[in-house]
Amino acid sequence: MDSTRIPVIFDTDPGIDDALALALLASHPRFDLLAVTSAFGNASVDITTRNAQGLAALYRKDIPVARGAEGPLRDERRREHATHVHGDDGIGGLSAQLPAPTRPLDPRPADQLLCDLVNERPGEITLVAVGPFTNLALALQRDPSIAAKVKGVIVMGGAFGLRGHGGNVSPVAEANIMADPEAADRVFTAPWPVTIVGLDVTQEAIMREADLAKLQGRGDGAGDLLWQATRHYQRFYDERDGIGGIYAHDASAAAILLVPEAFTLRRGPVRVVLEGIATGQTIQDWRNEHGSGTAWSGHPAQQVCVEVDAPRVLALFDEIF
Ligand code: BDR
Ligand code: CA
Repeated sequence: MDSTRIPVIFDTDPGIDDALALALLASHPRFDLLAVTSAFGNASVDITTRNAQGLAALYRKDIPVARGAEGPLRDERRREHATHVHGDDGIGGLSAQLPAPTRPLDPRPADQLLCDLVNERPGEITLVAVGPFTNLALALQRDPSIAAKVKGVIVMGGAFGLRGHGGNVSPVAEANIMADPEAADRVFTAPWPVTIVGLDVTQEAIMREADLAKLQGRGDGAGDLLWQATRHYQRFYDERDGIGGIYAHDASAAAILLVPEAFTLRRGPVRVVLEGIATGQTIQDWRNEHGSGTAWSGHPAQQVCVEVDAPRVLALFDEIF
């Protein structure tokens, strides 16, 4: 085993920024991508699973892909998919251009594949999750012992109100959390080390049009497809925020494994608001000034990203393909 490489499983709802994250995870030489698990979110799970398979083939990774949750833990949470952001097919209308899968879908549900792989290599695997966290919550339910066996869990999700970054589906809630708040709360309160890469930092990591254009002509067609798919995604963000590019949401969760020094972390238990107008809000108790008996007391301290050196993150795209 090459100890300099980072073994990861990618749990995802592709999704255009998911596709960029997968480009890093599949193509950067420091990653050893073991499997991809799909979830509903940016589109239905049928669509995101096909995209996950097609993207794995595009990046020439002949690895297991397993289908995951089709909806949240509590069915009444079911919301519209984010097709207005990522296109009806999740990839900005380009999914037909993805290559055919190189192997059939793994027969196991995503949460079982996650448990199996973690149990095969205790202490080694990092989970990188960038969709609703339903598969992770189901994996914990299936086999709670995996919490002690993963090396770490990195999630893209949440918003902590820093530097004016509120939620993106409500004034306080981020999309991956809002899609399944119960799952997110279970994942953040489980006894495993979670690092939360939320909108506070991902909305600072803007890939401008010129950065995205540099992908063209690289990666045997992969870079061209990413460039075209991000045209759709950029239109959405240009209209909403006028940023002249896209937020590298999901890629930031992969990046923290490669350049941890680019991120500043804050430690403390994190809970998710489950009812009322603030449903989906993520709140960290980082001051620990309120004694025992709060909703945060007794839960593990997790790490929340509070600052990012964005150029350092974006430069990683020069290291692939
Ligand atoms: C998150 O929501 C999804 O639309 C993106 O892929 C990302 O994971 C950003 O809030
Ligand atoms: Ca995503």
